[in-house]
Amino acid sequence: MTSQSIVWDKFTRFVHWTIATCVVLNLYIVEEGDPPHEWIGYAAVAFVFIRSIWGIFANGHANFRQWPLTFSELQTFVKNEIQRKPKPYPGHNPAASYTYIAIWSLIAALAISGFMMGLDAFWGEEWLENVHNAFSIILQICILAHLLGIAVDSYHFKRKTWMGMITGTRPPRA
Ligand code: HEM
Ligand code: HEM
Repeated sequence: MTSQSIVWDKFTRFVHWTIATCVVLNLYIVEEGDPPHEWIGYAAVAFVFIRSIWGIFANGHANFRQWPLTFSELQTFVKNEIQRKPKPYPGHNPAASYTYIAIWSLIAALAISGFMMGLDAFWGEEWLENVHNAFSIILQICILAHLLGIAVDSYHFKRKTWMGMITGTRPPRA
């Protein structure tokens, strides 16, 4: 695999930016709790569902069978990091894979808790608003970890890792 090979296909990139846009809109731009906030939240979880189906049928690194999710792969990754001998992965690395699963799960949890807030049984329940808020804070921590991970990968392997979700390739850095 060369640095100029396509790592992330067009559909995966489209879904990535759609979900990222929905998340940014709901976290920082749209008025919380208003109908647009609810529609955008449901759109985000619908795209998480679509990505999950794509993960079963896609070719290449977007397919979940290609994700390094076993415990031994995680152990090897951590060992290499501790020994400062990082190894480049052709797709997502183990830490990134778990972060993405956490991000998708948190979006689903936000949609479920958001939906529950609208039910008569939970109307005005402060604990549920706190739970929804807590999920949104953990989501922001995961996104920060994600962006930091991209910066570290690009530093370690002298490649433009962030371009992976723009052009689909990770060209070398000058
Ligand atoms: C990507 C998904 C979502 C994100 C990132 C998100 C994020 C947030 C944030 C940051 C707040 C403010 C929390 C606070 O400061 O107390 C909020 C409030 C709220 N969200 Fe969401 N949300 C999402 C999805 C949804 C969905 C799908 C619904 C409903 C169907 C929903 C309903 C609400 C409501 C009703 C509030 C106001 C709660 C209150 O009165 O304190 N959210 N959301
Ligand atoms: C709210 C903001 C964001 C969220 C929720 C988010 C979430 C995700 C998720 C879930 C994945 C896995 C994609 C998949 O396999 O389908 C991913 C991958 C990726 N994201 Fe983001 N992302 C966000 C912002 C960004 C930004 C701003 C950049 C560019 C700097 C970026 C660049 C990437 C790249 C390059 C990958 C693939 C990394 C790799 O090669 O392993 N993301 N992101």
